[in-house]
Amino acid sequence: MEIRKVGVVGLGTMGAGIAQVCVQAGFETVGREVSIELVERGRATIDRYLARAVEKERLTPDERNAALGRLTLTTELADLAGCDLVIEAIVEELDAKRALFGELSATVGPEAILATNTSALSVTAIAGAADRPERVVGLHFFNPAPVLPLVEVVRTDLTDDGVYEAAYELAGRLGKQPIRCNDTPGFVVNRILIPLLNDCVRVLDEARVSPLDVDRAMRFGTNWPIGPCALIDLIGIDIHVHAAEALYQALREPRMAPPPRLVRMAQAGLLGRKSGRGFYSYEKTAENAPGS
Ligand SMILES: NC(=O)c1ccc[n+]([C@@H]2O[C@H](COP(=O)([O-])OP(=O)(O)OC[C@H]3O[C@@H](n4cnc5c(N)ncnc54)[C@H](O)[C@@H]3O)[C@@H](O)[C@H]2O)c1
Repeated sequence: MEIRKVGVVGLGTMGAGIAQVCVQAGFETVGREVSIELVERGRATIDRYLARAVEKERLTPDERNAALGRLTLTTELADLAGCDLVIEAIVEELDAKRALFGELSATVGPEAILATNTSALSVTAIAGAADRPERVVGLHFFNPAPVLPLVEVVRTDLTDDGVYEAAYELAGRLGKQPIRCNDTPGFVVNRILIPLLNDCVRVLDEARVSPLDVDRAMRFGTNWPIGPCALIDLIGIDIHVHAAEALYQALREPRMAPPPRLVRMAQAGLLGRKSGRGFYSYEKTAENAPGS
């Protein structure tokens, strides 16, 4: 099954990056948001990403213009009708995703593939709302989507083999490094990374060590390119807490539960880089922290 035209639903942090990756890889792409303002915000983000690729000489200006020519943005779900594959990247809420998959089933053709970019929800539970759950997969991109190569291609017990292989192949044609995995909580990376980062935070209190020294320990003792506290700041404390909570709910393993220290930081609005303060302060002294 040949995928020629791709839809992306939700043009926030992930969706805008995924749409950019799609147009840059040569696919006609339709992006859908819920309002004109959010469509325009998505367009501005995609423009900015493509301009950066030109600056870094990864794209010529002509290639950027051609990529933009392949992009259509809309608020109408009906405009996704001709898509061979639709990637959902809306808010991480099961009810919202299930409602969308129900609507998408009535919009796209019977051969279309529906993919979710969920990080922590069950792909099977989302697929259950589609008319044809065998045509649903997970395509889990990492943030920022234009930069990080990994895509976890997730299958449920119901996913059709041909659908799965077509989705896997598509991820490769997008210039990504796909891996195959099954629909289990956290898939591969988050299943490993979230409890590991939680342990690093618990060590802060247990060993009475500073964030800077935990980061130095992992960088200089194990060659991590970035320390765990700097990494959580980069991910966003709120995003990490949310994902850890979801994994804990799914697996009931204490290591998955977000450490209270992180929950308090999220409640206090100390969200990491995006809020200017997390384990480190980014207002004036960004260079004093992360990888430095
Ligand atoms: N941010 C990350 O680091 C990250 C990484 C990997 C996966 N994800 C997953 O990707 C998905 C999106 O996350 P995000 O960080 O981009 O969220 P976000 O809040 O930045 O963007 C979500 C967008 O979806 C839009 N939206 C909501 N309902 C919609 C609908 N019915 N139709 C069209 N648009 C709709 C919202 O207006 C918003 O702009 C989530 O499932 C998240 O778990 C996030």
